[in-house]
Amino acid sequence: MPFTRRDLLQIGTAAAVSPWIASIESIARQERRFRFVHFSDLHIQPELGATQGVAMAVKKVLDLNPRPSFIVTGGDHVMDLLSVTRGRADEQFKDLHEALKPLEMPIHGVIGNHDVFGWGGKVVLQSDAMYGKKMVEEKFLGQRAFRSFAFSGWHFTLLDSVQPDPKTGWKGAIDQAQLEWLDTDLAKAGDMPKIVVSHVPVMTLFSQYTEGTTTAPSNTLILENGREVQKLCYKHKVRAVLQGHTHVVEDCNYLDTQYITGGAVCGDWWKGWRLGVHPEGFMVYDIIGNQLSAKYVQYGWNAKVHQTSAKG
Ligand SMILES: [Fe+2]
Repeated sequence: MPFTRRDLLQIGTAAAVSPWIASIESIARQERRFRFVHFSDLHIQPELGATQGVAMAVKKVLDLNPRPSFIVTGGDHVMDLLSVTRGRADEQFKDLHEALKPLEMPIHGVIGNHDVFGWGGKVVLQSDAMYGKKMVEEKFLGQRAFRSFAFSGWHFTLLDSVQPDPKTGWKGAIDQAQLEWLDTDLAKAGDMPKIVVSHVPVMTLFSQYTEGTTTAPSNTLILENGREVQKLCYKHKVRAVLQGHTHVVEDCNYLDTQYITGGAVCGDWWKGWRLGVHPEGFMVYDIIGNQLSAKYVQYGWNAKVHQTSAKG
């Protein structure tokens, strides 16, 4: 019979001195073992074979051994809702649901900038009942764009990193109310190991390796107040922040928080590998006790159209 935390506490102070008790604790910790997938930037659309590509990636997830307990979709589920008609938006969601249907596991989604209906221009009126985030919340997320959940002793916080901007339509930021909620949410999780998920990166070196080491990233590349989020991650000992948006595979470790950008299911928007070096794929995370390990898994997509892309 497995030992519970209560059993261990009842054993009392002997645990501090007995190697036998220490090994029981180790067994108890090792029981907390699970796998999940961070599946980001699908950009599904009827063109370029994208629907078949997502279906192929889903099959690869299902073939993983051990099979993941759940999947976190990292945003940009559809090619774009910012500047499309209602009909085009509906078509993309239909493809999305069809491609993800075989997944026999819970799906936890975060919102991406391309998942917001009508913020990109004059195609949709603000009076449309589905305007803004309402469409993706109703048609995919099933709930508000930021929230948290617990799984097997780990705490997961999903952020809404896309905010309105009068000039560009949207920007990467965490609004003040959400920042306060994040502080409280992480505090409530106490000693549980914590993971935060954000579509727009909290921390990234993308501009440095694509443009130049002194180039400042814009607020459509990185959260404009990522520093505030990073401070909370440090304060609450967040183990990892899972990011999307730039379609690259990257791991920045700062003060024991890993800021991991998880590539893209669509690679370079279904036109080959991102920057010529980041293939189509998704991130697989394995948890053993309080330890987290990550690997990027390709699913073997061959783009039908290739675009000339800068090398990474
Ligand atoms: Fe994207």
